[in-house]
Amino acid sequence: MNSFPIEDFQGVSTPFYYYDVALLRRTLAELCARSPRGSVVHYALKANSNRALLRVIAAYGLGADCVSGGEIALAVESGFAPGKIVYSGVGKTDREINMALSVGIGCFNVESVAELGVIDALAADAGVIAPVAIRVNPHIDAHTHHYITTGLSENKFGVDISQIPDVVEYVMRLSHVRLRGVHFHIGSQIVSMQPYETLCATINKLQDDLESRDVKMDYINVGGGLGVDYEDPDRHAIPDFASYFDTFSLRLKMREGQILHFEPGRSIVCQCGTLIARVLYVKEGLNKSFVIVDAGMTDLMRPALYQAKHKIENITSRGPERVYDVVGPICETSDSFGSAIMLNEAQRGDLIAIRSAGAYGESMASRYNSRDLPGVLLSE
Ligand code: LLP
Repeated sequence: MNSFPIEDFQGVSTPFYYYDVALLRRTLAELCARSPRGSVVHYALKANSNRALLRVIAAYGLGADCVSGGEIALAVESGFAPGKIVYSGVGKTDREINMALSVGIGCFNVESVAELGVIDALAADAGVIAPVAIRVNPHIDAHTHHYITTGLSENKFGVDISQIPDVVEYVMRLSHVRLRGVHFHIGSQIVSMQPYETLCATINKLQDDLESRDVKMDYINVGGGLGVDYEDPDRHAIPDFASYFDTFSLRLKMREGQILHFEPGRSIVCQCGTLIARVLYVKEGLNKSFVIVDAGMTDLMRPALYQAKHKIENITSRGPERVYDVVGPICETSDSFGSAIMLNEAQRGDLIAIRSAGAYGESMASRYNSRDLPGVLLSE
């Protein structure tokens, strides 16, 4: 049997996200112990911006990786130091840029020449100098789902690596931006270190090239993307931070005084979150049995959007295992959490746990079909 506090779930209306805060703390402790000395780890808020979790994460001294004015405001409210906030995104609005300038964020991760011009003009209006890093598109295949691969030349992200020397020259001519670094993010749910090794080699080459032009960066930001074990969340409750960080420590040729930046999201919060749903009906079809639960793609969009597979358990039944399709109530065929899933025999009222749902679960929930947003229960 599993280790969920089922007594605490009684009387809580389903569906809801259950967060194991003790596991989050253990994950953060491991992350802090393994990250290279002097580096700054920025938590990517997009993975989960639940305020209670943000406060826990901020207390470990992490920085924040934000992609909207809303996330910057949340980060500041939750206790992240403004100087440790980095701000990425291909479509920053004037309002968001002004807000980031007034908060005094640590760095804009700039994704285009056009954006550089706008930040320069708005910083001039505000009478401040904006710190910027250029997001580089390094043409590296992260071998992950195509919707979450970001570092290929056909992706919309960043400035093509071949254009970096020209863009650097352009930035140097702007009066109200200060070039602080280069930024990379090659994709998400990356489970092999090989793409990161390639990234290190690419960065080393770029740094040599820039150095020959007398350009020195203060920050090297390698983004996020470390994957987690969706198949066996209990065996790998905490991701392999040691291999991840060691890859950069060993392979990246940092210059004197340079600071390494990271932006992990999923690897910090994924395994501490579980979506708890209740079985509404068990329906015997012609060839299969359906377990119809009260959570749907509106609560956890990943299976419908990326064909993601999350481990599913019936946490209130000890009956013999049977094979089911586990589906939600939304009027879309893609509203399914899994096909041919082995579950302890299900009946109306049972609680179903959909595991590894702490990242890109609650934060991507929608109100499609005019449904309520999922609830939240914290372990402490
Ligand atoms: N930095 C940048 C610039 C990013 O775009 C992302 C994620 C991260 C950091 C954090 O990546 P992580 O460590 O979480 O992999 N909704 C998708 C994932 C989208 C990731 C978008 N960018 C999913 O559910 O799989």
